[in-house]
Amino acid sequence: MTMALSVVFFLLLVSSSTAFASSCPPSDLAALLDFKASMEESKMGFFRTWTGTNCCKGWYGISCDQNNGRVADIELRGETEHPPVYLHSSRIAPTPGFMSGKIPVSICNLDRLTTLVLAEWKNISGTIPDCIVNLPILRILDLVGNKITGKLPEKIGKLQRLTVLNVGDNLIHGSIPSSLPNLKSLMHLDLSDNKLTGTIPSNFGNLKMLSRALLARNQISGDIPSSIGTIYRLADLDLSSNRITGHIPTSLGSIRVLSTLFLDLNKLTGTIPKSVLGSKGVNSLNISHNALEGDIPDVFGPHSYFTALDLSYNKLKGRIPISLLTASYVGHLDLGYNHLCGGIPKGSPFNHLEASSFVGNDCLCGKPLTKKC
Ligand SMILES: *[C@@H]1O[C@H](CO)[C@@H](O)[C@H](O)[C@H]1NC(C)=O
Ligand SMILES: *[C@@H]1O[C@H](CO)[C@@H](O)[C@H](O)[C@H]1NC(C)=O
Repeated sequence: MTMALSVVFFLLLVSSSTAFASSCPPSDLAALLDFKASMEESKMGFFRTWTGTNCCKGWYGISCDQNNGRVADIELRGETEHPPVYLHSSRIAPTPGFMSGKIPVSICNLDRLTTLVLAEWKNISGTIPDCIVNLPILRILDLVGNKITGKLPEKIGKLQRLTVLNVGDNLIHGSIPSSLPNLKSLMHLDLSDNKLTGTIPSNFGNLKMLSRALLARNQISGDIPSSIGTIYRLADLDLSSNRITGHIPTSLGSIRVLSTLFLDLNKLTGTIPKSVLGSKGVNSLNISHNALEGDIPDVFGPHSYFTALDLSYNKLKGRIPISLLTASYVGHLDLGYNHLCGGIPKGSPFNHLEASSFVGNDCLCGKPLTKKC
């Protein structure tokens, strides 16, 4: 009896899992067919695999949840190392893809979607449908490298599972939604190369899981919120080429894992915080092309390791800090176009640098400059 029951149970299990594995609910199928109808892609031709009624089997870029048979991932990249299988066997070398069209709102009917990647297609236009914020388990939203316009959805903060938000290299305008700091799972944020305006929300530091924040090449204004200094996992912060004003928050120096800090090409004023320049983690620092004043803090030591340290095009004065001689490594150094004076220290790292690292100052002297002290 027990034996018979478990056999029945086993058979049920097998039949149900095969049923799920090979099914595609009509609503999911309809949403994907609507997506296909909204898009135009002929170079790769992957839509040729989107035929029949089982979207979970053989449809390029689509995968389904094994447990419930629902569409879980749409992963379509225009530049990929894994082109469609049928292209491997042909003699055509994989070319970068090119897709036109707009993301239809019906995509929001795929309510078990965890991954939506439509990256590097160059010509996907239209806006990000606002209803995307209702996808309850969306984890990855990657639309990088297209021509998406409009604003970021105002209620984007509803996506409580979102770990990756990558919409870099598009034409998105408007400001960063005030709900964005509510994305409590967010680890990777890339809004670079868009047309964003407005300020960075002051509670940006609520993004406690964030490790990369890339906001470069927009038209963002206002201050750098000091709350960013509380994101203790932040490793890369790139705010370069915006219209950011105010001081560099001292709190940035307390992020232990911060290794790249790019604030170049902004309108920052005030002095360079000792905590940032003397930080143990920062190894690539670019704060050039701002209006920073005062002396360069004399805070270098054996803990200082810089592949690049660019302080050029500011209003820095005083002497070159002698403690730079104690840094364990300085690869690229640029102090040009400031108001520095005095002798360039002798010894490493100065003996491997060229005059271009020091040009355009008021009264620096000594090698590698031709002016003698
Ligand atoms: C790019 O997309 C736009 C808008 O959908 C379309 O009008 C245009 O023809 C597309 N460009 C190419 C080269 O296909
Ligand atoms: C620092 O930023 C400026 C302006 O964006 C750029 O020209 C320069 O190459 C950068 N420095 C380094 C070392 O990358």
